[in-house]
Amino acid sequence: MTDLKINVINHPLIQHKLTFIRDIETGTKEFRELLEEIAMLMAYEITRELPLEDTEVTTPVGPCRCKRLSGKKIGVIPILRAGLGMVNGVLKLIPAAKVGHVGLYRDPDTLTPVEYYCKLPTDVHERELVIIDPMLATGGSVVAAIDLLKRNGGKNIKLMCLVVAPEGVKVVNDAHPDVEIYTAAVDERLNDHGYIVPGLGDAGDRIFGTK
Ligand code: URA
Repeated sequence: MTDLKINVINHPLIQHKLTFIRDIETGTKEFRELLEEIAMLMAYEITRELPLEDTEVTTPVGPCRCKRLSGKKIGVIPILRAGLGMVNGVLKLIPAAKVGHVGLYRDPDTLTPVEYYCKLPTDVHERELVIIDPMLATGGSVVAAIDLLKRNGGKNIKLMCLVVAPEGVKVVNDAHPDVEIYTAAVDERLNDHGYIVPGLGDAGDRIFGTK
């Protein structure tokens, strides 16, 4: 599939940890820890462009002109439930971020995503928003989550994934070309059950040990 708009974060530490996360032998505890670590490393890359402003502090030796973040407020929006596995990693780097939650399930008849839970920061329209969904498969839930944020006034939206399928990237690119997608890997394809190949299996089950 050509012309996908996607940012692959190739940092060696992320790629190394992703290998272990994919491994079927990796248990729940280690999976969770690795996912949190990768989320923290990805947040470092995703926040690279945050604006800075000048400030001054006094060191033990004297005054120092320095930089600090210029107060751009961030909202982190995990899609339930697998998105929860990456939230703490992001919050370790951005502790002041507010966290909203979006829950969606797929209607068995229409196969379209249906919202069952939504709680967003009240000032969502003023925040830089990072939607978190480790596995971008068909793209249906992510597009629905972005629609939901935009309906609530969200403007600056990024999407943070761990592994994506080309099919899902295309769906999100087509529906929301303004949304930058970040991932650690673009895998081959989706299988007939909607799983990413080779992927890592069901991310929610692996995070919460519900297999
Ligand atoms: N969701 C997952 O958890 N894994 C996949 O491979 C696809 C969707």
